[in-house]
Amino acid sequence: MGTIIWLIIASISLTTIVPVTACPPSDRAALLAFKAALHEPHLGIFKSWIGTNCCNKWYGITCDPTTQRVADINLRGESEDPLLQKSNKTGYMTGSISPSICKLNKLSTIVIADWKGISGIIPPCITSLPFLRILDLIGNQISGEIPFDIGKLNRLTVLNFADNKLTGRIPRSLANLSSLKHLDLRNNMISGTIPRNIGKLRMLSRALLSNNRIYGPIPESISYIYRLSDLDLSLNRFTGPIPGSIGKMSVLGTLNLDGNQLSGAIPSSLMTSRISILNLSRNAIEGNIPDVFGPRSYFMVIDLSYNKLKGSIPKSISSASYIGHIDLSHNHLCGKIPVVTFFDHIEASSFMYNDCLCGKPLKAC
Ligand SMILES: *[C@@H]1O[C@H](CO)[C@@H](O)[C@H](O)[C@H]1NC(C)=O
Ligand SMILES: *[C@@H]1O[C@H](CO)[C@@H](O)[C@H](O)[C@H]1NC(C)=O
Ligand SMILES: *[C@@H]1O[C@H](CO)[C@@H](O)[C@H](O)[C@H]1NC(C)=O
Repeated sequence: MGTIIWLIIASISLTTIVPVTACPPSDRAALLAFKAALHEPHLGIFKSWIGTNCCNKWYGITCDPTTQRVADINLRGESEDPLLQKSNKTGYMTGSISPSICKLNKLSTIVIADWKGISGIIPPCITSLPFLRILDLIGNQISGEIPFDIGKLNRLTVLNFADNKLTGRIPRSLANLSSLKHLDLRNNMISGTIPRNIGKLRMLSRALLSNNRIYGPIPESISYIYRLSDLDLSLNRFTGPIPGSIGKMSVLGTLNLDGNQLSGAIPSSLMTSRISILNLSRNAIEGNIPDVFGPRSYFMVIDLSYNKLKGSIPKSISSASYIGHIDLSHNHLCGKIPVVTFFDHIEASSFMYNDCLCGKPLKAC
């Protein structure tokens, strides 16, 4: 009798106390299907993907320590990783991202970055991974569109699809990514307009959309994103004026709008804002440079070249607290260049190709 009770107790404790020690076969099968769609000829990163326990030393795979479900896929073709350092090569991989990745429904990180040769589309089912926080596919050849329902990923903090071949529009649902901090879509072929409800992304601090084919106006609602510190819309096809409200944003430090078709005047708020890197080069901006510089104007870079600016360089520029680099070339400016100490290091080329500027560093008036 005593022995039987002891056996019962023993078997209960065996089933309840013994922790999960290996990844579930379904996670392992999903990873093997993911691997089968890829080809990595040089480094052999998948050589470690052997054995039944995918949580045990599979390169780039991390599991939740209690549940042993796959939590992170972290595969970078350019990194400090000893495997890459030892081979003295940067990674190269072809193939595509298998939809089987979506069976790993506890995933929190997907980094498949800088492999240069991975093509195919972003599996649309990726938006059904409810715990996803980081989705980083930078530096591949991925084509097709951003999944239209990307906004379902309400825990997503990092969305990086830069340096790929994506087409189509920015989905309207993107504005539903209420945890998003870092958005990088640079160097793709994305077109369409910026969703007007973009201002809902209250956690966003970097929005990098440079070198795409995005057109239409810069939505005023961008200025509601009060944590935004870096906005790069350069090398697109934006038209219309620069919203003056952008100059009132409390932490915006970098504003790159160069290489668009923006028109209208420079909002005076930009000259007295927190912005310290301002590039408005190669647009169709007209009117005078606002004469509102003051002690709050601190510019590491202010590039207004290749526009249609007229009038003179405002006298107030001498009261700016700092200007590291300025380029006013290729405009229609005229008159005497103000004598300002921080202009001493600026080359003549920054003032050339205007209508009639004169004075140091150009010829005397
Ligand atoms: C790694 O490659 C660089 C450039 O190709 C070369 O200069 C260097 O000697 C190589 N190092 C090793 C350990 O092979
Ligand atoms: C954004 O989320 C709300 C609330 O969940 C939903 O009603 C709406 O349809 C979503 N918008 C888009 C464009 O997906
Ligand atoms: C500003 O943008 C233009 C056009 O894209 C670029 O050529 C230039 O180097 C940028 N200026 C600075 C100072 O980075």
